[in-house]
Amino acid sequence: MRAYDFDTPIERRGTDCFKWDALPGMYGREDLLPMWVADMDFRSPDFVMEAIRRRCDHPVLGYTMPSAGYREAVRAWLERHYEIHTTEESLHFIPGIVAGISYALLALTQPGEKVLVTTPVYPPFLNVPKGCGREVVCSPLKIADGRFAIDFDDFERKAEGCKVFIMSNPHNPAGTLWGKETLARIAEICERKGIVVISDEIHADLTLPGRKHVSYSTVSEIAAHHSVTFMAPSKTFNIAGLGSSVCYIGDEALRKRFYGWLDALGVANGNIFAFTAAEAAFSQGEEWRRQMLDYLHMNVQTLDKFLREQMPLVKAVLPEASYLAWLDFSAYGIPHKELAERFVNRARVVMNDGTTFGGDAYKGCFRLNVGCPRKMLEEGLARLADALDM
Ligand SMILES: Cc1ncc(COP(=O)(O)O)c(C=O)c1O
Repeated sequence: MRAYDFDTPIERRGTDCFKWDALPGMYGREDLLPMWVADMDFRSPDFVMEAIRRRCDHPVLGYTMPSAGYREAVRAWLERHYEIHTTEESLHFIPGIVAGISYALLALTQPGEKVLVTTPVYPPFLNVPKGCGREVVCSPLKIADGRFAIDFDDFERKAEGCKVFIMSNPHNPAGTLWGKETLARIAEICERKGIVVISDEIHADLTLPGRKHVSYSTVSEIAAHHSVTFMAPSKTFNIAGLGSSVCYIGDEALRKRFYGWLDALGVANGNIFAFTAAEAAFSQGEEWRRQMLDYLHMNVQTLDKFLREQMPLVKAVLPEASYLAWLDFSAYGIPHKELAERFVNRARVVMNDGTTFGGDAYKGCFRLNVGCPRKMLEEGLARLADALDM
């Protein structure tokens, strides 16, 4: 069996890659190690690249449509991994999940209506509703036993009057897996309060070995009834630049409200390379994914060991899925602004600033991306530790 290589560094600079090429413009330096934007510094799989190359051998790139092969590959993947029993009508292509969230908010809510999120959270969950003219209501997560947990008293109180709950499942940051019990409790509250749940499951396929992702719509009939689920091969197979996501809605009435809107936006026919890549990834990607997850798992263990030995004051929430860790440096007693400055200018490492995940409550926190060759991770961690030396 082929062993895939995740160790060899790939030079991404000069490819208009956001993670690396945006940094000189942002910080005025060329020597920064990017451990922020959520893609991986691994080669996209060769079976995906070959499928795209093969498609390029044909000289016409005219309008396209989701092929039977693409649709079948998506359906088989969702059935096999998450027991989501799709029908042809229940699925809809979307170019990206952030776009999908804004389309859903525009279709399912009115201006000024309230949208619930649990913080800290992926910043577009805060910015997209605001940009759509909706009000964002934040229910802060607790940290218990080194993982995020929903504060259900607060959640239930804040849910009152909200029309939509946008959930990251697994949760970004830190890839917390919301287990069946938690999801069922969310479903019960949201059903009672008439809330539609948007379950963003973009990180689901990156669930680390030994753990299990539960897809929201599968926990109960009521969850299936009031939910919109987003999935994508983009994070899993490192093809985020292609925009190839998919929406699943089990409930016919909800589907009518949302898919009619999607068709009106003219996004259904998609992008040739998105379909080609997604079909290849979902139909040929199991072994690559398995090996990549083993590698990521080792990276998370490397991070854990390093933090314990070299940065013991950091309070970490480590990923259960995906490659994003939430690190709280508050115990070092260094003001947030100075921490941020030290990480960029001393460590020359870029992480995501915690305050962008929900405001000043997350001062002292940063999100670290460990989806990279292990040597790069070790180098980044060593530099961060040096920057914390007084
Ligand atoms: C939870 C979550 N949703 C959505 C996205 C982005 O999705 P897309 O590129 O399909 O818009 C990300 C990327 O980091 C994410 O973490």
